[in-house]
Amino acid sequence: MRHLGDQDILSILLKQEWRELLLRDLIVKLGGSVITNKAVKESPRIDVIRSLVGILKDRFRVLIHGGGSFGHYVAYEVGLNRRPVSFEDALKVMKSMDRLSNIVLRSLEEFNAKILLIRPREFVINKELRLYKVFEDALVEYKKRGANILTHGDVVVDIGKYNFSVCSGDVLALIFARIFRPKAVIFLSDVDGIYTKDPKRDPSAKLIEDISGSELVGAFEGSSSTDVTGGMKLKVETIKRISEITDVYVLNGFKLDNLKRFLSGDDFVGTRIRRG
Ligand SMILES: Nc1ncnc2c1ncn2[C@@H]1O[C@H](COP(=O)(O)OP(=O)(O)OP(=O)(O)O)[C@@H](O)[C@H]1O
Ligand SMILES: [Mg+2]
Repeated sequence: MRHLGDQDILSILLKQEWRELLLRDLIVKLGGSVITNKAVKESPRIDVIRSLVGILKDRFRVLIHGGGSFGHYVAYEVGLNRRPVSFEDALKVMKSMDRLSNIVLRSLEEFNAKILLIRPREFVINKELRLYKVFEDALVEYKKRGANILTHGDVVVDIGKYNFSVCSGDVLALIFARIFRPKAVIFLSDVDGIYTKDPKRDPSAKLIEDISGSELVGAFEGSSSTDVTGGMKLKVETIKRISEITDVYVLNGFKLDNLKRFLSGDDFVGTRIRRG
């Protein structure tokens, strides 16, 4: 067996450094399933948030978080995305999301991150539960000025019959991928990636490790009732659309060493959805 020479080691190190450089300016979505306990109303996982922010702080341009047991819970209570809701009820969901985003923001500030919180209710309009219009001019200008942005799944005005509806963190990842054109978009959830079936319900589910965006939708089965935003099916369709722009990775947000390995360009467990 041939031993590694200095030249080989140098080229491995360079490759690793190059891979690390590639994994900067990311868009990262912190799943609500990671940063909150979805089983108990408004229960943040403060330590998990702090650890993730510590690992990710120099790596992202846009950090997005989901609703978890904040937004989803209150959204369910008021019937958001199921029936027309009043301004007052929409506001309850918004306030709940504000409580969660303030926790994430505080963690970021503990790490001295320079980041601007922008809420989708101010730049997104839906129609019949679907994205209708994004007022993106200000976002484009922030990008040009090198801003880092924190945003989150939110309630937005819906000009269809519902009055208000959800703009999910997953859809925001698509909106920001279009504007920021990152090297990759990373989704962190409470399982190891995208499986052929729901891994919590079906033990025969297999992790999809590497797949192209165009093959993804056919390769998976998911429950469609996981949350108010359409569950895994909608998430996978959104990821497919993001993969038309850039590579997407879905990783377990609880497995911090795995996340660090990924960010260092080492082997990791997760799903890679290749662009195209
Ligand atoms: N084929 C599948 N592969 C992976 N997870 C799946 C699949 N089908 C269903 N799921 C479920 O989807 C869940 C993740 O989606 P969920 O919307 O609950 O989390 P999230 O997006 O992190 O939270 P939030 O919407 O609050 O940001 C997992 O816990 C898993 O049980
Ligand atoms: Mg979700």
